[in-house]
Amino acid sequence: MTDQPIREETLDPQNWDEMRALAYQMVDDMLDHLRTLRERPAWQPTPDEVKERMQLPLPHEPEGAESAYEDFKRDVLPYSMGSPHPRFWGWVISPGTPMGMMADMLAAGLNPNMGGASHVSNEVEFQVIDWCKEMLSYPAEASGLLVSGGSMANLVGLTVARNSLSDIDMRKQGVGGLSQRLMLYCSTETHSSVQKAVEMLGLGSDSIHSIPVNDAYQIEVDALEAAIAADKAAGLRPWCIVGSAATTNTASIDDLNRLADIAEREGMWYHVDGAFGALAALSPELKSMVAGMERADSLAFDLHKWFYAPFEVGCALVRDRAKHRNAFTLTPSYLVHGERGITAGKDWFSDYGFQLTRSFRALKVWLMIKTEGIDKYGRLIYQNVEQARYLKALVEAAPELELLAPVALNVVCFRFKAAGLDDDSLNALNKELLIRVQESGTAVVTGTMLKGKQAIRMCNVNHRTRREDFDLLVHEVIRTGNELVAETTVAG
Ligand SMILES: Cc1ncc(COP(=O)(O)O)c(C=O)c1O
Repeated sequence: MTDQPIREETLDPQNWDEMRALAYQMVDDMLDHLRTLRERPAWQPTPDEVKERMQLPLPHEPEGAESAYEDFKRDVLPYSMGSPHPRFWGWVISPGTPMGMMADMLAAGLNPNMGGASHVSNEVEFQVIDWCKEMLSYPAEASGLLVSGGSMANLVGLTVARNSLSDIDMRKQGVGGLSQRLMLYCSTETHSSVQKAVEMLGLGSDSIHSIPVNDAYQIEVDALEAAIAADKAAGLRPWCIVGSAATTNTASIDDLNRLADIAEREGMWYHVDGAFGALAALSPELKSMVAGMERADSLAFDLHKWFYAPFEVGCALVRDRAKHRNAFTLTPSYLVHGERGITAGKDWFSDYGFQLTRSFRALKVWLMIKTEGIDKYGRLIYQNVEQARYLKALVEAAPELELLAPVALNVVCFRFKAAGLDDDSLNALNKELLIRVQESGTAVVTGTMLKGKQAIRMCNVNHRTRREDFDLLVHEVIRTGNELVAETTVAG
């Protein structure tokens, strides 16, 4: 033993006042960033020198908090995705909210592990799940789990569907114990995460019977019934129907009640992917469009899409709580659920999904709902739909533009057209046009292919968007389209 004092370290600041000053500065900077988004480009590419600075050797010595934060401000802040911008309408991307941002800070400060155990944060998640059920008119007895997003929510729902087959102990025997191939039915417009989930479940993508869509991009119900009958006759086992509310490409909503009827009649599992469309239920004007969703055996949806929450937060609801639990629960001695103390609680969230350690994503949803009240979200969702209708009207009024799909909800697919150009040339032109609009920083719209035509796709889950933003978008698309036509003519 020496007299030397033992030097023990911590990651807490040596000077809390300095940390406090820096933390306040961070909050000020981010709130200013959000307040002034309109003054900046919706997106800008990451410069090469910044990319190079992301390839530095592992630091062994401290740089210090102030300096590290300066690096963030210089290299990360300006070139981030741009998703909070009022004219960001790519894919299905939430802009986030200031309260959601602060809630994530609070959640990280508390840092509870949401796998289970007795602490109030779990009660917050139970509360949020109960509210979600009420929001979507889903049965109050159902179970639920907040997850990373729609892909994971689909995987949870389909795992319960697979593990709940009554004639096989799937968790023990695995898919090798099946005597017939299980078949899942969904439309050709269903999101790719459903295929990924089926593949991860060991069923193989041959287990997916893709059903064509009608002109409104909804599943052809007659074709679905015929496919089920044909597969049965061929010795396959119809197992699950997946309905979409709404599809990614065009926001079309399948006839969810008819799909529920068929699943019921055939004794099949009914899963609804409501990643963003499910939230239409919050708007009294739109609610009827998703009728039938509440009949699903499992329902997947996101709060980081049309609920505007920052990433990540999605939700899986399962009608039969016991089936949900039986699909996942596994309790080694080090995780035994006790009667008292911190291990108390029969229902741990880790019994309802794959993750053991989970983040406190419930807090942002809880605070966002409490702050604004749920009715405001319904109004914002309807506002987004009315704005999409406004853009549709602008497209229809412009001779240079062509609408490529019906506007069912909040997605508008259109293209620039020019006399004398065939579909191949228009596809190439619209692809380049999309990139130029993005690079101009005016707006972010992304693309998709509809019936062989390259579409400019605008998906509005943005509470910051105003109608005038669509005037600007249309102006920029037409200007860029004309510029491209002029370049082609000169080059030709
Ligand atoms: C209809 C649909 N389902 C599932 C997903 C996947 O959701 P996430 O990206 O949250 O995993 C998306 C994403 O856009 C979607 O549009």
